[in-house]
Amino acid sequence: MAANPAPSRDRLTIRKPDDWHIHLRDGAMMRAVLPYTAAQFARGIIMPNLVPPVTTVDAAAAYRERILSALPPGVSFAPMMTCYLTDATSPDEIERGFAEKVWIAAKLYPAGATTNSHAGVTDLANIAAVLERMERIGMPLLIHGEVTDQDVDIFDREAVFMEQKLLPLLTRHQGLKVTVEHATTAEILDVVRAHAERVAATITPHHLVINRTHIFQGGLRPHLYCLPVAKRERHRLALRKAATSGEDCFFLGTDTAPHPVGAKESACGCAGVFCGPTALQTYIQVFDEEGALDRFEAFASLNGARFHGLAPNAETITLERRAGQVASCVAVDDTSVVVFRGDETLPWSVAEG
Ligand code: DOR
Ligand code: ZN
Repeated sequence: MAANPAPSRDRLTIRKPDDWHIHLRDGAMMRAVLPYTAAQFARGIIMPNLVPPVTTVDAAAAYRERILSALPPGVSFAPMMTCYLTDATSPDEIERGFAEKVWIAAKLYPAGATTNSHAGVTDLANIAAVLERMERIGMPLLIHGEVTDQDVDIFDREAVFMEQKLLPLLTRHQGLKVTVEHATTAEILDVVRAHAERVAATITPHHLVINRTHIFQGGLRPHLYCLPVAKRERHRLALRKAATSGEDCFFLGTDTAPHPVGAKESACGCAGVFCGPTALQTYIQVFDEEGALDRFEAFASLNGARFHGLAPNAETITLERRAGQVASCVAVDDTSVVVFRGDETLPWSVAEG
């Protein structure tokens, strides 16, 4: 009898992934970037840091409708909406949006931590009642985990947040489901592991392939600047180990964050890496390099859905080892957005449907 063929290492078919952390913006920008995300992902958590931020159920429902009507014909993508927490968020509004299935989660931006976060939370004490309610109804809290004290070294802001804010919060709210968004340090990964029955972390493609030195390689690279900023090499290696480990507390969240090229290439450039168009190609390359292709589906398509109590997607996507280039930039009105790794030939491509 013929032996079973060895599993192919040049082609991988997995359930369609979900992206648990997306910035789509609105208007022309959203219409320009949405097709790239919708081509790779079946569902996605949409971040609420618009101007003004999405703080009410009605605003979130209207934003979801704008996204759905911007989808290219024949493309299906389910946007999952989040509430932007402020000092004034009401527990009843939170519960209503969750009960009506408008919101899947609420996002904590410490005020001033990052792009469009100025209306965020100034002190966790101000949202204690909101967090209690979320804990009671099982609504996850998505955390941008950086302190906002500008005297704290920018490379330490996640670590200080972990010690001063996250650990006490996990103690105060022992039943609260939490996602540490865009984890960047080895230490926070261990905190997630230690609380894995209710705490998870998303990991971006860029934090798996760049460390802080890359931001200054041969000159300042504004398109590699995001928040939390990339850290030392040992942290990148820890992130790669966690993502490819198969542990179900780690899952895919790109933090794709488009800004017009002029806002990046500026004397005071915005934080954000636009990685949506090359996300799966980058992630699978990392899993391949780590000898972990068999664990890619768990990270990309299963762990996040399980955390959020959703079934995995029924449809599939195939990735293949085929050199390809996507687009170095995406046009938006009279400007453009530079694509992360868009100028590179990538070893893996998404197979044509
Ligand atoms: O780099 C970032 N960009 N980090 C964030 O937390 C927000 C995001 C954005 O909205 O541009
Ligand atoms: Zn983000």
